[in-house]
Parts: sequence; structure tokens; C-alpha cells
Amino acid sequence: MFLDERRARLAKAMERRGQWPERSPWIRRAVEELPRHLFAPARLWHWDSSAGVYVPVDRMAAPDRWAAELYAGPDDPTVTQVTGGRASCSLSCQAVVVDMLDSLLLEPGHRVLELGTGTGWNAALLAYRAGPGRVVSVEVDPQLVDAAHACLTAVGAEVAVQVGDGSAGRPQGAPYDRVIATYAVEKVPWAWVEQTRPGGRIVTPWGRLGHVALTVAEDGRSASGWVQGLAQFMPTRGVHPGRDWKQIRSAGLPEHADRPFVRDIQRLHQDVHLLFALRVALPEVHIRTAARDGGAYAWLHDGDSSWATLTLRDDEKAVACQGGPRRLAEELERAWDQWQALGEPDLYDYGLTVEPHRQYAWCRDAATGPRWPVGTGATDHVSLTS
Ligand SMILES: C[S@@+](CC[C@H](N)C(=O)[O-])C[C@H]1O[C@@H](n2cnc3c(N)ncnc32)[C@H](O)[C@@H]1O
Repeated sequence: MFLDERRARLAKAMERRGQWPERSPWIRRAVEELPRHLFAPARLWHWDSSAGVYVPVDRMAAPDRWAAELYAGPDDPTVTQVTGGRASCSLSCQAVVVDMLDSLLLEPGHRVLELGTGTGWNAALLAYRAGPGRVVSVEVDPQLVDAAHACLTAVGAEVAVQVGDGSAGRPQGAPYDRVIATYAVEKVPWAWVEQTRPGGRIVTPWGRLGHVALTVAEDGRSASGWVQGLAQFMPTRGVHPGRDWKQIRSAGLPEHADRPFVRDIQRLHQDVHLLFALRVALPEVHIRTAARDGGAYAWLHDGDSSWATLTLRDDEKAVACQGGPRRLAEELERAWDQWQALGEPDLYDYGLTVEPHRQYAWCRDAATGPRWPVGTGATDHVSLTS
């Protein structure tokens, strides 16, 4: 199938699912005029799940597979760079890019700071709306900066691309009307708030599951806003990923006696709102789930020294096994109970407030709702790529 056919299929799939935002019709036009393949390198990377490795897909050798990597589906990212076996850059899922641009409420003439240039695609979309010379983008990887600059120049987008660590923002051009990050943070850097004008907006992937849109207060001393949707992004570079489940499990820390787990593990596997609530309540706990042959499984760890497995086999009662200083299965049950006691809020019922010296997530009401501290976890690590 040719590139244009794949592209059209992806656009149609987004139409069927209602993923083109009605309030921002410019975004569909921008994506049509600036398709993602104009920013894709000649070598993409495909995740081979049976071998557990990324394998290269070269445009010259396999043009159709290359196109399939780019235009697979609305929720599929395209990995464009692999470093040490891990994805280090990607063209994010088209549906998420579109959703985040919609959350930004971008207007012509706005001055925009993007953190995480990557291929330059999102920067080009931002410039399509904001206008020439209105967007500056910061990328930590100098090699990516050169490639993005070349692609942006080729499509005629006037964007300033700079090498730097996005956590410092870019004070030289501040204040900005809009700040958008395309890598995930646990804590929103205060520099982003300081560099956004009062009333301006910051959109960023937050934590391991969602993206938030924050409005900077009129006095500039805080920024606050709601979770806008799902978004699983690669984490900010330079953060230690912490230990994974296998490493912690095999460290041989004392185990606790197996016990019944009296919650529905199938639900844990399927319900993104539940997963989001657990992630807010237990910020450093990683949860991976699977369901097969009538059974359901969950693997938990805290990136440091505690682990748990939850297992439900067909016709059996669910069992929790756990080890290490924390009892993660019990912690999970308590957080699950709390979510139910709150009436099972959606992820859209949560929000985030950022102040100079503290940040917290809240549910339903920033002032009066329940709160959870943010960024106190042992690890600042995301295991999925967008
Ligand atoms: C998902 S990709 C970006 C996608 C990009 N916006 C595009 O349209 O191709 C995330 C990017 O963030 C960059 N990045 C990660 N941490 C960063 C940091 N602290 N400062 C600047 N860039 C960072 C990565 O190198 C990577 O290129």
C-alpha cells in the first residue's frame, strides 16, 4: 500500500473515532499539509515483541514497511531513534499529538516554547498556527536538532531550534503565551511556569499516563489545571530508570506469605481510569497487567526494593505474592478502596497544581478536593513510549 493511502486511512480512522477536535479545525488542516513522513528519518525502528528488541526498518530497503511504521494507527507511535536498546526519540501517536495541540488553545501570533523537538514535526504544526518566527523549540540531543532543523527548513517552517535541557525552559525568549512539552515529567519544572505569562497555558505529559493543561495564575505564583487525556510519553532524558521488576524480584529480599487478593484483576487490566487513580495515589509504583486464557495478571514494583504479583487463573481465587519492605498489594488495595469511596472518578476529574516549592494532584476541586503530593517518588521513570 502506498504512503498516501496509509495516510488517508489513518485520517479516516481518526474521523471514525472522533479524534479530530471540532473546536480546533486548523489541526486537521495542519496535519494534512505537514504529514509526519516529511519529518521521519530514513531508518525507523520496529519493536519485535517475540525477541524483545527494536529492529531497523529502512525506507530504501522496505518502503512499504517503513510507511506502515509511520501510519499504523492513531494510537501508535513511530520510534525514530534507539539508544542502548531503548527508544530515545519518536514521532508521537498522531491522535495524542492532535489532542495535546487542541489542549494548548493556540492562537495565531502566540509566542510558543516547545520542549523536546525530536523530529520537528510538532514544532512545524505549532508554527502552522502561531506563524513564522513565533515558535522556539529546545532539544537535548544535538544530532536530533540538526535533523529537525533540516526538515523544518525543507517545509518552510520558521522555527528556532536550540540544543538544551528543557527543564530550564528558555529564559531568553520569555514570557511565552504557550509552553508545550513532548516528553513526560513527574514534576513540572518551575522554570516553565516562570517563563509563561499570567493567563498563559502549559501543556505537558504528566506521570506515566496522561497529559495536563495548566493555566498560569494572574500573580504568576502558581499554575493549575485539569488532566486532558491519555498520553504515554518517553521520560525526560537523564533520569535514572530505577530497577525493573525482574531485578527487584531476583534480589532475594524477604517475601511475605501469599494471600488472597479480593479485587478484580481483569478490571485492573482494562480500566484506564482506575489505573490513573492508582498512579496518582502511588506515584512511584509501576503496574503492568496482562489477560490471557481466562486469567489476569499484574506485576507491581516500586523501582527500588519492593515487588508484588497478582494472579487470577481461570476458576481460582486471585492471589497476591509480594516481597521487600513495602507490601505493594495492600497499598494497591487501599488506594483502590479510596478511589471507590470517591465514587470512581474519571481521569478527567483529576488535576494538578504547581507552586514554587510544592506540587499536588487533586480530584474534582483544586481547593477543596482530596490531594496527593507529586514528585516525591523514588523514581521518575516511564516505561512506555509515545
Ligand atoms: C516523543 S519525542 C518528541 C517528539 C517531537 N515533538 C516530534 O514531533 O517529533 C521526545 C523528545 O524529547 C527529547 N527530550 C527528552 N528529555 C529532554 C529534555 N530534558 N530536554 C530537551 N529535550 C528532551 C528527546 O530527546 C526526544 O527527542
